[in-house]
Amino acid sequence: MSAALPSPTAIPEILIVPDKRLRTRARPVTDADRPALEALMPSMFDAMYRAPGIGLAAPQIGLSLRFFIMDLGPDHARTPLILINPTIIAASETLATREEGCLSLPNQYAEITRPARITATYEDLAGVKHRIEGEDLLAACIQHEIDHLDGILFVDHLTPLKRNILLRKLAKEQREKSDDKAASRARR
Ligand code: NI
Repeated sequence: MSAALPSPTAIPEILIVPDKRLRTRARPVTDADRPALEALMPSMFDAMYRAPGIGLAAPQIGLSLRFFIMDLGPDHARTPLILINPTIIAASETLATREEGCLSLPNQYAEITRPARITATYEDLAGVKHRIEGEDLLAACIQHEIDHLDGILFVDHLTPLKRNILLRKLAKEQREKSDDKAASRARR
C-alpha cells in the first residue's frame, strides 16, 4: 500500500481522535520511501515544535508508515531524533507510571504505567541500524510513539471507565471548539 506523502513544504496537519487513520497499523518503511521522508522532515519537525510536542508519529499526520520523530531536549537545545522501523527488543519487568498526553488528544492527560526501561532498535534516514536504551521520559515516549504505529493510543492503557471519561471530555471540547469557530465566522 503506498502512502500519499504530504507536500514537503506545507506544515502537516495533526489528526485528532476519532480519526480512523490513528487506528491503523502502519507498514514498514522501505528504501524507496527514504528520499520522500527526508524531504518531509523539516515540516514534520515544524509541526511537532509548533504544537508543541516532544514526539510525533507518522500516522498522526495521516502517513501509514512505521516511523516517528522525537525531541526531548530542553528549549533552545534541540536534539531531534528520527526513528524508522523501530522495534522494542527488551523491556524491564519494573514498571513506571507517569503522566502522558498526545497531540492527537489535545488537553487530555492521564497517568500511564509501562515498563520503566526499554531497549529498541531503529533505522536512521540512511537505513543504518541503531540501538537506543532509555528510561524515564525517554522510555515512555518511545513506547507511546511505537504504539501509534500499531494504531494504539495512550488511553488504551486505561480502564474502559477512565478511557471513556477522557474520550467524552475530548469530544465535548472539540465540539465546543468547532462551535466557537463557526460562531466567529458568522460574526464576520
Ligand atoms: Ni501520541
